[in-house]
Formats: sequence, structure tokens, C-alpha cells
Amino acid sequence: ADLEHIRNFSIIAHIDHGKSTLSDRVLELTGTVSKRDMQAQLLDTMDIERERGITIKSQAVRVEYVAEDGQSYQLNLIDTPGHVDFTYEVSRSLAACEGAVLVVDATQGVEAQTVANAMMAMNADLEIIPLINKIDLPAADPDRVRAEIEDGLAIPADDAVLASGKTGAGVRDMLEAVVYNIPAPTGNPDAPLRALIFDSYFDAYRGVVALVRIVDGALKKGQRVRMLATGAEALIEEVGARHPVEEPLDVLGTGEVGYVVTGLKDVSQVKVGDTVTLAQGGVDEALPGYREVKPMVFTGLFPIDGDQYEPLKEALEKLSLNDPALVWEPEKSHALGFGFRVGFLGLLHMEVIKERLEREFGLDLLATAPSVEYHVFKTNGETLSLHSPQEMPDPGEIDHVEEPYLKAKILIPPDYVGAVMDLTVARRGTFVTMNYLSPTTVEMLWEIPLSELIMDYFDKLKSSTKGYASLDYEFAGYKPSQLVKLDILLSGKPIDALSFIVHRDKAYDRGRILTEKLKEIIPRQMFEVPIQAAIGGRVLSRQTVKAKRKDVLAKCYGGDISRKRKLLEKQKAGKKRMKSIGNVEVPQEAFMAILKVD
Ligand code: GTP
Repeated sequence: ADLEHIRNFSIIAHIDHGKSTLSDRVLELTGTVSKRDMQAQLLDTMDIERERGITIKSQAVRVEYVAEDGQSYQLNLIDTPGHVDFTYEVSRSLAACEGAVLVVDATQGVEAQTVANAMMAMNADLEIIPLINKIDLPAADPDRVRAEIEDGLAIPADDAVLASGKTGAGVRDMLEAVVYNIPAPTGNPDAPLRALIFDSYFDAYRGVVALVRIVDGALKKGQRVRMLATGAEALIEEVGARHPVEEPLDVLGTGEVGYVVTGLKDVSQVKVGDTVTLAQGGVDEALPGYREVKPMVFTGLFPIDGDQYEPLKEALEKLSLNDPALVWEPEKSHALGFGFRVGFLGLLHMEVIKERLEREFGLDLLATAPSVEYHVFKTNGETLSLHSPQEMPDPGEIDHVEEPYLKAKILIPPDYVGAVMDLTVARRGTFVTMNYLSPTTVEMLWEIPLSELIMDYFDKLKSSTKGYASLDYEFAGYKPSQLVKLDILLSGKPIDALSFIVHRDKAYDRGRILTEKLKEIIPRQMFEVPIQAAIGGRVLSRQTVKAKRKDVLAKCYGGDISRKRKLLEKQKAGKKRMKSIGNVEVPQEAFMAILKVD
């Protein structure tokens, strides 16, 4: 299409404010997908996305819209991930657009990721169209939300679109606003090809497929192209657009958005944020903003059954084909045997991957508590990047340790300022500033160690604010901290997979609470099991799991056989997530107990 008749836009929102539902209505209204074929949230293609109602990967869909001016427009709608783990993908999707529809739930108002996404859209110089959604709900309060958008985000909201993804009200108004307010793309059709990759994935039949925005020039089947950051070259096998079913095209022209089949076998060669150009006669200057994504959270994954080590490795290989943010290396634990240390973008990413490993690959896994990457500066001048507490050198060899910090933004009603203060200070947070976005919403900024955040912080924040708080964060860099490794001993032996790194001032409390928790979690065995928490050789606390009373089963003999079977079945089910360590049976829960310590 000619540039004047193209609009590229994203829908951005806080999680659950309804952008996927709105996207569905757009597909319906433009006749792209008939109502009959409409599967709820068509754009969320992964099973887990659909089940959890979250968008993980970005998607792009092209629709033809005949506007009230009688002209037909090509609208490229890019659905962005809503979760904070995936903000880099959001930022790249936005870079592919000229405008964004900012969706705000009429009952919830502005929340943390509304602010974060709006900021990102402003930084990308996008035209922002505010849309107040879910106006069908009785609790909808568009006036309050309008005020929050204006006061809190400095976005004029008099003309905010009022809509309901549920009833379809206002969806046409939204598209008219897109056509009239969002600028058409600019770019030079005669210049050499430059295209931005804003998503890529591995397709078993066609190799790596990338979603791209053509900035200059055009992209055609049969062209030889090069990715500037990775240097990978590919012969383009197909280009096209999604409606949302893929439709091959002769060419993707300047300003357009579409998919490209590269035939490459490894998704790490086609990275989000990279620039595609021609292998011959292309450009050397990349589009701005490319960044390597780095895992932030690490966990040990061990097969419950040692025979599943190879299948686990194959499964990780398969998943990482499609996910350059997923990194892993073999790990050996005395307690758990052979497994892998796996790095993730965040906790949601971790949960999704773990669930896919278990569900799609039929693996039974034991996960150790997540930890972060620590930088250890040794007295001999060496520095180490630790991904696992087990690798921590002896205290005598350590000069100092640094840990990752986040800038966290918390939005809450004013009544909860005290509760958030208490919780966040207890988590070693440093208060930065606070301001009122509106009379009903306060924005607090904090610096907080990532290691504290992954310890159940968000759940605690939610429960101490009756669910009102919303949270957004970004990486703020490394800072020195007084950190020590806390060991957990069972029957006098340190269990490497249970050790963790903690601030020195908290070691005693965490050790005490954890040994108490473990006492409840570890089932009685045939013998007594002492549980100890220790730093170096110094024991901080001790609990004991008493020995099992004898003859649990004997009582059932002769009498009720079905009761005995039930008991055995119960034991078997309980065993599923148990691992025997030494001669002690330790359930999965024990490893996660570390995360729930206050
Ligand atoms: P993420 O992709 O996870 O960020 O969520 P989302 O913003 O795409 O939200 P989604 O479309 O999945 O909607 C969240 C929930 O709100 C779902 O339960 C929807 O059914 C519901 N919902 C969405 N739009 C409306 C609406 O206009 N009215 C009402 N009543 N409910 C809505």
C-alpha cells in the first residue's frame, strides 16, 4: 500500500485491562475473522497463554479497514506482552509503530504498567490514543480514569475513546482515532533495505520466522539478507502478512509490517531488536535500540528420575531454539544429582518454561529456589559471576559481593503508603520518592535488591494492600551488599541444593524460620532428622523431625484392605515430587520454602 494508507500501532495496557479482547473485536469488526471462527483471544496462540490469560510473545496482524472517509487503510496491529518480564519485547514492538492505543480499565484506573507502557510509548515518540475500556461494567468510572490519565500521565484525555471489548462498543471510534490521529509511516522506498525485527520464533517446518517492520526499501522472496548484530545471512524463502492466518505476498514495502521466513535453524541468529538489510549493497548502520536480553533469575532444574536427564536436555535444547532469553548449563548437585542451572528473564518466564517442560515433554522436575546473579570480588583479584549459591567461595577468599538492584515503581491508593513502606523497608528497599498521580493514586519509587523481589515480594505487596498495588520495575545495576551463604544441613550433612545467599543481618531470622518450615514440610522418616541452618561451620538454628511412629501400616493388616491401598496410593502420590537426599526423603516444597520466609 502507499504510505498514506498505512497505520502501524500497538495496543498497550496494564495486565488484564483487556487489550487482547479488544484486538479480537478489531478482527471481527474489520471482517478479518468471522464471528463464527472467532476463538476467544485469537492472538494468544500458545496454550499456556490462553489458559493463564496472558500474552507472552508479541503478535502482529494486518487488517483492512474502510474508514468513514470511504478510503481503505492497511492497519497493522501489534499486540504486545503485558508482563514486566517481557518489557524489552514491548519496547521493540513499539519501535515498529507510529502510535499506540493506551487501554485503561474503567474500573481499575491507571496502574503501574499503564505508567510504564505509556512512558515507553512517549519515549518512542508515539502518538498516544487513550482508551477507557470495560465501560459496560457497573463499577466503571470513566471520569475518574480520565482525570488519572491527564494528571498522572500528562496525556490529554478529553477525547479518550470509551469502549468495551466485551460488547464491542467504541471499537469503531478507536479505529477512526487510529486512522486520523496516528501519523502514516515515513521511510524511503528507494533506499537500501532496513527492517526492524520485533519478534522471532522457530517453526519446525520452515526454520526461523521473524516479524519485521520495513523502515526503508522493500523485502522480497529470494533476496539474500544479513542481520546486522549477529552477522547471520539468510535467503528469504517467503514474505507475507497475517490476517491472522499467514498469507504470502510478493513484497513487504516501506512502512509495512509482516513476517519473513528465513530458513535459519537457530533463533539466536535472528534476535529481537536487530536490523535486517541486504547481504549485498545493504546498510551498515543498525536501527537504534538493539540490546542483548539477559537472564535475571536462575534456578536449578533436576529430573526426579535420573533417567530423565537426557530428555530434559533435549527439551531445553528444543525450547531454547525458540527463546534466546533462555540460557542453561549443566549443574551437578551432591544432593540432587545431574541437572541444569537455567536462566530466565523473570519469575513468570521461569514458571512458563517449567510448566512447558513438564506438560509438553512429560518431565518430572524438581526446581531449586530461584536466585539471582551475584558478582563476587575475591581477595586474589578474581571476579566471579555466580548463578548458583553452591558456587560461593569460602568467606576467607571474598573481598566483597555485589548484587543486582531494581528501580521499582509501585502504584497504590494513599491509604496503603504505610503498609508498602513497612514491607519494602523490611526487604532492604531504599525509598526514592513518592508523588500523587491523582487524589486516589500514589506513585512510590524504590530501589530494591532483585533477590528480595523474587522472594514472594509481589504476593506480599498484593496482600498488604488488599490487591490494589501494582508494580513495575527495571534493572538499576549492581551494588555491594553484605551477603553470606546460608547452608542447610539434614542429619548433619550440608545439602547443597538447599543453600542460599542472604544478607548478613537477615541470616539469623531466615535460618530460624526456614528450619521451622522445613520441620513441617519434611515428612517423618524411620529415624530422627536434625535440621540445621549454618554459616560456614557456625550453626544458627536447629530443629528436629521426629522419627515415624512404628506400625502405621500394620494397623490396617487383616482388616480394611482398601484403606491400606489408599494409604499406599497416597504415599505414592506424595512421593512424586520427593527426592531422597542421603537417606532423607525431601519434597519439592522444601526447596521453595526458602522463598516464603516472613
Ligand atoms: P494480558 O494479555 O494478560 O496483558 O491481558 P489483556 O490486557 O489482554 O486482557 P484480556 O483481554 O485478556 O482481558 C482480561 C479480562 O478482562 C478477561 O477476563 C476479559 O474477559 C475481561 N474483559 C476484557 N474486556 C472487557 C470489557 O470490555 N468488559 C468486561 N466486562 N470485561 C472485559
